Formats: sequence, structure tokens, C-alpha cells
Amino acid sequence: MKVTAVLLAAGQGTRMKSSLPKVLHPLCGKPIVWHVLEALKSATTDKPVVVIGHGADEVKKYLGDSADCVLQEPQLGTGHAAMQAESLLKNKTDFIIVTYADMPLLSGETFARLVETQRLNPGPFSLITVFADDPHGFGRILRNDDGTVQAIVEEYVATPEQQKIKELNVGAYCFNADWLWNALHRIPKNEKKGEYYLTDVVELAVKDNLPVQAVVHDDFSETIGINTRVHLAEAEAAMRMRVNREHMLNGVSMADPLSTYIDAGVRIGKDTTIMPNTYIYGESEMGEGNVIGPNTIIRDSKIGNRCKVLASVLEGARLEDDVDMGPFARLRKGAHLKSHVHMGNFGEVKDSTLEEGVKMGHFSYIGNAKIGANTNIGAGTVTANYDGENKLPTEIGEDVFIGVDTMLVAPLKLGDGARTGAGAIVTKNVAEDTLVVGMPARPIKKVERRKRKAK
Ligand code: UD1
Ligand code: CA
Repeated sequence: MKVTAVLLAAGQGTRMKSSLPKVLHPLCGKPIVWHVLEALKSATTDKPVVVIGHGADEVKKYLGDSADCVLQEPQLGTGHAAMQAESLLKNKTDFIIVTYADMPLLSGETFARLVETQRLNPGPFSLITVFADDPHGFGRILRNDDGTVQAIVEEYVATPEQQKIKELNVGAYCFNADWLWNALHRIPKNEKKGEYYLTDVVELAVKDNLPVQAVVHDDFSETIGINTRVHLAEAEAAMRMRVNREHMLNGVSMADPLSTYIDAGVRIGKDTTIMPNTYIYGESEMGEGNVIGPNTIIRDSKIGNRCKVLASVLEGARLEDDVDMGPFARLRKGAHLKSHVHMGNFGEVKDSTLEEGVKMGHFSYIGNAKIGANTNIGAGTVTANYDGENKLPTEIGEDVFIGVDTMLVAPLKLGDGARTGAGAIVTKNVAEDTLVVGMPARPIKKVERRKRKAK
């Protein structure tokens, strides 16, 4: 049995007042349409079809090969939009879910229930309804005496009596494919608006004496449709709670889920604790037993196990295990901190690897550098990595001791066991086990290498 989804996403989304197509607005870090496609995955068997129109190029580019696109031009209503999928799907599938691409909270289970209901329905389709005290903006559901659906009345044509109806059309339908195409061609033009309404297929079925079933959904928060940025914010809050809840059920602790902001798709291992006011964005993932936050922003970063990240900002960074950072540390793109690195306050690392056990306690900038294992970076150390045109590399060996306030003028190499005195300005490579001091620093003597004990 084949089930295929048709997503209607051609409308203009005027009320968003945006130059970005509505379905590409982000919700927990992913476009609205991503959430709908994600939910549909578990209820369908085939590649979805997305009907595009307004902002077609942008939407198509985003979708790539995750969906087949058909163009609706001009946009003559939801019935007309669904009809555009006929050329791609006729005789190719058994059931068709039609839904609107601006309802990102409908879950996979809800779509699966819809398909199941239609499977048992002798009639041509089923739809999802919901009861709400404030029905504003939705089509109203009229029922027959036997409980089947009689009609969907759009709000602007509803009589005052009908306006009081609290059962609403959510906007998700499952059709027997063979029946659908024919019915779509029979939808009458709505004279007032010059459009073809998908909702009018109910009356066509009723005329044919065929039953339309409704699945009553009990969670109104899943049915938020995004028409304005106010709705977008409401949907974001609901989605965020859903994401956080799932992490907690998977063994992640959150001191305050209300102030924890995690993008959809982020992976977090068990026994990790997320402290308040923490933001984890994009393609981020972390392992087990970490303590993250409070007051931390992580974007597109990968973190191992048992790390502590306090009040810090990480972007495009990688931490291996047992790294301890912050408060007030900043990692930029390409920062790679291996196991047992300690990074204290007011440090910045960019495009650099800090090997195991490197200590960098305070006020330092490390860019385009490789720092060998167990090296100590004194407070105020700076890699002067930019000559005004190019970024230049610094290579520091193992067991090096960089004294406070050292300027490392790149390109530069410091051998294993080297040391610099406080305030040194190092412009020339330093040999192994050599202490340099001064401005610019010059070698003064050979020194005995200090080995820090391995853990
Ligand atoms: C629609 C339903 C209404 C339901 C409500 C739920 C109709 C006629 N009405 O109203 O019963 O309660 O959703 O949210 O279906 N679209 C196209 N092409 C078009 C027009 C619209 O692709 O020519 C797409 C839009 O991009 C949007 C979706 O269809 O994603 C729904 O359109 P919208 O104008 O938002 O319908 P509503 O007025 O919300
Ligand atoms: Ca809508």
C-alpha cells in the first residue's frame, strides 16, 4: 500500500510581511517545511510532492531532492493547488495525504492516525478536526446525524450560527488517490474569491453519498497554522517544549526547560545536564555526562563526554572528552580542543588545535595555531597571526611554557620544551628546550625541560 504526501506551499504568505517565503522561516533552527516533511516521513511510503508558487525558486532550492516540486501558477486556491500534483502522482499511489506546509507541529503519529482512519473508511477520504474555544481563522466542520462530515464552511461565508461551531478543519486530509483527481476537477469555482477550495471536496463526496470521516485531534497546540509572525513565535514555543521534552525523556537533565533553547535535530547523550539560558543551535551534537551552561551559546559544534562548558560561546568548534571551559571563553570556527584541555576566562581560539592537556587559563588569543600536548599558555598570550593580508601559522610543541603576556609573531615555531619569559615578543623560531626573553626575544640559555605529570 503506497501513501504519498502532497504539501501545499504555493501561497503568498502575505501576512508574514516578509521577503522570505513563509515555509522557509525557521522554527527551532529548521525551515517550517522541514518540520512538516519530517513528520510525514513516518506516515508515508514515497517521496513527497510539494506544490510551490510564491518564492518557488528559493523553496525548490532548499528542498533539493528531498521532495518533487510542481509549480502552481497562478495560485487559484487550495483545490487548484492540489490538482497540480496529478501529473506526477496519477496511478502511482494508493493514498494521498494533502496538507498545508504552514502547519509544522502536526506530528508523525497524527498523520499515521489519519491514514489508518482512511484505511478503514469505505468512503473516499478522512480529515483531521480539532475543537477550540477560539475558532478564529479556521473552516468550521458541519456533521451529519450519523457523525460523518457534511461540509466545511470557510469562516468568511459562515452564518453567525455556523461561526459558533467549535469543531474546526485542521487542514490535513487522506484521500483514496483514484477518487481525488476526479473530484478536484469537479470543484466549483468560488465566485466571490475566484478560487477553487479544497474544502469543497466534502460536498462532492456527500453528493455521491459517500462517507467522509473525521479524526478528532485532542491537542490543539499541534494544529497551529502559521499565518503571521505572532503564530510563528507561538509555534516556536510549542516546538521548543517538544524538543526539550524528548531530550529529557532520553536522559538529558534540564534545570529549566523554559529557558533552554535547542534546535531540532541536535543530538545530546544521556546524563548530560543543560543549565538555564543555554542555546544549542544548528548541526550540534554532544555525548554523555556533560554540564553545559548556564549562559552558553553553542552552534554547529561537536562535544565529547564529561565536558564542562560554563558561560561560553562556541561556533564550529570541537571538544573531545573531559574538556573544561569558561566562564567567558570563546571558540570560533575550526577550534579543536582535545581531551583534558582547560580553557579559562576571556580566551579565544580560532582555527587551532590544542592537543591533550593544554592549559590556557586567562586572556589569550590563539589563531591558526597548533599547540602540543601539556603546553601551558600564560595569561595574556597572543598569536599575532595576521600581517594585514594573510593569516599565518604558529606551531608550538609539547610541554612548552609560554610566559604571561607573550606575543607570538607568526609565522613561528616553538620547539618542544621551549619557554618564554613574561612580556616576550617572539619574532623568530625558538629551538627545543630554550628560554627566550625580551623584546624582541632572543635566546639566553638552555633550560631543563619541565614535564607535567600525565593524568
Ligand atoms: C485553510 C482551509 C481552512 C482550514 C485552515 C487551517 C481552505 C479553503 N481552507 O484556510 O478550512 O481551517 O486552512 O489552517 O483550504 N496554498 C497554495 N495555493 C493556493 C492557495 C493556498 O498552495 O492557491 C497553500 C498555502 O501556501 C498554505 C495552504 O495552502 O500553505 C493553506 O492556505 P491558506 O491561505 O493559509 O488557507 P487558510 O485560509 O488558512
Ligand atoms: Ca493557513
